[in-house]
Amino acid sequence: MTAQTLGFLGGTGPQGRGLGLRLGQAGHRILIGSRTQEKAAAAVEKVHAKDPEVDVRGVTNDVAATEADIVFVVVPYSAQQATLAPLAGAVGSKLVVSCANNLTFDAAGPVHVPVPAGSAAAECAQLLPDAVVVGAFQNVSATKLLRVPDPVEADVLVVGDDEEARVAVCALADQIPGMRGIEAGPLRLAAPIEDLTAVLLAVNKRRKTHAGIRLTGV
Ligand SMILES: NC(=O)c1ccc[n+]([C@@H]2O[C@H](COP(=O)([O-])OP(=O)(O)OC[C@H]3O[C@@H](n4cnc5c(N)ncnc54)[C@H](OP(=O)(O)O)[C@@H]3O)[C@@H](O)[C@H]2O)c1
Repeated sequence: MTAQTLGFLGGTGPQGRGLGLRLGQAGHRILIGSRTQEKAAAAVEKVHAKDPEVDVRGVTNDVAATEADIVFVVVPYSAQQATLAPLAGAVGSKLVVSCANNLTFDAAGPVHVPVPAGSAAAECAQLLPDAVVVGAFQNVSATKLLRVPDPVEADVLVVGDDEEARVAVCALADQIPGMRGIEAGPLRLAAPIEDLTAVLLAVNKRRKTHAGIRLTGV
């Protein structure tokens, strides 16, 4: 796969750093986006502490949106609207990967909170109307992504309304050792995938692990 520039909005968090680390190791150029240049620079140091060879640069979110070939949304769902709305012009018609889950925790444990648009990925598509939005990596543990060089044993369900975009994101997932990208269908199927993350977190609590999913028969 040709090296691409991957921009992570909110990439200073564990999910953005983890995906950036792994996809940087696969040879892509990584832009860690943040609200502040200082936090972005600190996140770059953390990635380089894991692997100094990764081509990673810290930038503000608007620069990440402008310079990236593919944009990843790795802010908490609660920050999605405020983050994405001002960046719609900078993102334009690019491929955007929505990784967000709208979860909360109560006395019974983790639970998915319904999103008015149907899913965080569907809301992302509304906020970035010209972009080609794909949902992926919502079920992948950042802890496992950051635990290099261990393989990330997981299937990544990739949903979106554009086949070429789904194939491209599956190819990215396939580049992470142990991971497999699986095209699962249109963007409307993002909701159950996001819901499933709460189930995995509940399993994690009981088993003291970082569970992922594997499909059989595929
Ligand atoms: N962590 C996981 O294991 C995991 C697994 C699967 C999916 N996800 C999903 O991936 C996304 C990122 O997860 P994460 O754990 O990396 O998130 P996080 O650490 O809570 O947040 C990521 C970054 O988002 C920015 N941010 C936080 N609050 C914000 C606000 N109010 N407005 C604007 N930006 C804000 C911050 O960047 P700056 O302060 O630098 O701007 C922060 O470092 C989430 O939607 C989560 O559901 C996470």
